[in-house]
Amino acid sequence: LDIQQFISDMPKAELHVHLEGTLEPELSFALAVKNHIPLEFETPEQLITAYDFHDLPSFLKIYYAGMNVLIKEEDFYQLTWDYLTKAASENIVYAELFFDPQAHTCRGVSFETIITGIHKAQLDAEQKLGIRSQLIMCFLRELSAESAMEHLKLAMPYLPWLVGVGLDSNERDNPPAKFAEVFEHARALDLKLTMHCDVNQHNTLTHIKQCLDDIQVDRIDHGVNALQDPALLEKIKQKQLGLTVCPISNRFVVQSLTSNEVRQMLEHELLVTINSDDPAYFRAYLNENFIELQKEGQFSAQEMVTLVENAFKVSWLKDTEISQYL
Ligand code: HPA
Ligand code: ZN
Repeated sequence: LDIQQFISDMPKAELHVHLEGTLEPELSFALAVKNHIPLEFETPEQLITAYDFHDLPSFLKIYYAGMNVLIKEEDFYQLTWDYLTKAASENIVYAELFFDPQAHTCRGVSFETIITGIHKAQLDAEQKLGIRSQLIMCFLRELSAESAMEHLKLAMPYLPWLVGVGLDSNERDNPPAKFAEVFEHARALDLKLTMHCDVNQHNTLTHIKQCLDDIQVDRIDHGVNALQDPALLEKIKQKQLGLTVCPISNRFVVQSLTSNEVRQMLEHELLVTINSDDPAYFRAYLNENFIELQKEGQFSAQEMVTLVENAFKVSWLKDTEISQYL
């Protein structure tokens, strides 16, 4: 059995990918020219050379600088279309897409522009490429809870286009509890809830605990450190919560693919899933994440299948839809 071919051929779901993190240097250059935005670099290759992040803040700095070229509805369309095309080519049949509206509205781009461009590309990709997707609106946790609430209000006319809300960006001193009210509001609107608890962040166990007890999330993004606390592990297991692990992202941010941790999660029968996070920046899409992880952890084909099935199981599709993929 050629395990890499097996991984590539499997119909997969991706649950943790930031649309802005799929902005390829080539598209970045094309949009910079089109929108008359000066870039610091002369070629896409030079830009890639500058991707020298080693932790979450150094990554985020480059990530936010990169997205300044996204201005028009057609830019958000192109970004989304390109990702979904790439995803379909990797046999991803379903994706849940994060986007960060505050990173664009703060530059004068309207909420309508952002979400309409994304939504139209989702519709076209489903029709023309056969890949389904749903959208998750993330709040930037270093910004205020008031700003998050304002953006939830901006989203009200587009609620049918959203499946859930998330929380991302700089975790230090920005605990889940800061956003308790916003997330309560989102839940009342029937939106699903998830939050990033990135690997090895300051107070990460407290953050995971708040996600479980205070926010009552439906999923946790990353959440790898839960392995260090038997009580948290037990709760995650009882609630059958999905954990969206991103191996190659972890290699950049914490210098480890976390294959040992993924193995432990499988042994605990947690609903762990594999994802790409910011594939254009980490230079690896979903198949490469699975392949690198499998190589390092020597996972079996059956374990690969379990990881893929987990993603469908903890996806935010309807139960009847999920069963079609299993
Ligand atoms: N962590 C936190 N915020 C993010 C990330 C991440 O890996 N990617 C994009 N926003
Ligand atoms: Zn992420």
